[in-house]
Amino acid sequence: MHAGNGLEGISIGPSEICLVDGENGQLIYRGHDAEVLVREHTFDEVAFLLWTGRLPSADETNELREVVFDNMRKVAAEPATVATLNPNALTMDAVRSAMSVWSMGRNLAEGGTPADAQAALGAIAGSVALLGARRAGVTPGDIQPGDTIARAYLRIMTGAEPTDAQVGALDAYLVLTAEHGMNASTFTGRVIVSTASDIGSGLVGSIGALKGKLHGGAPSHVSSMIDEIGTADNAEPWLRAKIEGGERLMGFGHRVYKTYDPRARALGEVAERLGSDDERLGLARHVEQTALRLLHEYKPDQRLYTNVEYYAAAVLETIELDPGLYTPTFAVSRTAGWTAHMLEQINFPRLIRPQVEYVGPMPVK
Ligand SMILES: CC(C)(COP(=O)(O)OP(=O)(O)OC[C@H]1O[C@@H](n2cnc3c(N)ncnc32)[C@H](O)[C@@H]1OP(=O)(O)O)[C@@H](O)C(=O)NCCC(=O)NCCS
Repeated sequence: MHAGNGLEGISIGPSEICLVDGENGQLIYRGHDAEVLVREHTFDEVAFLLWTGRLPSADETNELREVVFDNMRKVAAEPATVATLNPNALTMDAVRSAMSVWSMGRNLAEGGTPADAQAALGAIAGSVALLGARRAGVTPGDIQPGDTIARAYLRIMTGAEPTDAQVGALDAYLVLTAEHGMNASTFTGRVIVSTASDIGSGLVGSIGALKGKLHGGAPSHVSSMIDEIGTADNAEPWLRAKIEGGERLMGFGHRVYKTYDPRARALGEVAERLGSDDERLGLARHVEQTALRLLHEYKPDQRLYTNVEYYAAAVLETIELDPGLYTPTFAVSRTAGWTAHMLEQINFPRLIRPQVEYVGPMPVK
């Protein structure tokens, strides 16, 4: 069967982890609506849900945090993992390398367990937080009793006490980007462990796939787009020129959502709460409305709407995150989803091995 050049519409098999309902704009994690989870639960609890299929008790959340924090501290105490490899490296390359070094320490010939998944989350959160501290030239802060993963992450990264609003915004971002079905990076991770390789190799592959701007690399491009547009009056001519030049507008369009991305809606509300009278958010709203109108005008059949990356940029800007750390922070949250999928794949092993349609020449007889 020919699946389309990007495998669109093809299922690789059953999964109990996530439903992305692209027609109705709904995102379900293990039976829970992500838009409800983001209001009622922390990322820490959502990671547990993705791994186990149920929300944790308070004691289970604390146990999970202990493991994650222990691994964050280990990484932060061994800065060789990210900071000294190459200070001029692209941040996603640094994170990918850090997780490769981390996985050597796990010595996993194949497979992986829930304990590996928890350790991986700590290792990547610690690596990115430390990378952030190095880039800002600050002494990494210490994790404190009672911290959530989001608070500990900001504390290490900034060396300062984050505000409740910053922690809440980051936590919302982490919840809403933790999992998203069979996207390219998750598929990559599943393909890797399907060969009976290990979860660390899967993570390194997933991080590589997330780096691209068609997947996880878009939010910093959204920020630069708003910077370049600069004023409300410039939005329409700027956007028209890009579309007419055949370029894609970052933060719009999605392979599965043919309506407004529910994560963009929820993050837009978070951005509104954080900076309701912020001039920049006003400009972002104006650019969004103009872009949607123009995309509809130029490509009426394509059903192009705002995707998660558009308001991810607004939220991450409001918490003053270094744009070089937008995609690495996405990698932190998605480690929960990636590892949930890799564990599912490990438990129901089947080599993923599609085919390609050969259209080249045949030997001359
Ligand atoms: C996410 C994305 C890769 C999904 O694309 P896809 O399912 O492969 O869609 P296609 O490449 O088949 O595009 C279909 C049509 O819509 C257009 N299109 C898709 N996204 C567009 C965008 N953001 N801006 C302008 N046009 C877009 C394509 O140019 C194409 O039009 P055409 O048929 O006139 O050539 C795509 O929408 C995109 O590049 N978005 C911008 C990057 C981004 O925001 N990434 C984050 C994703 S969460």
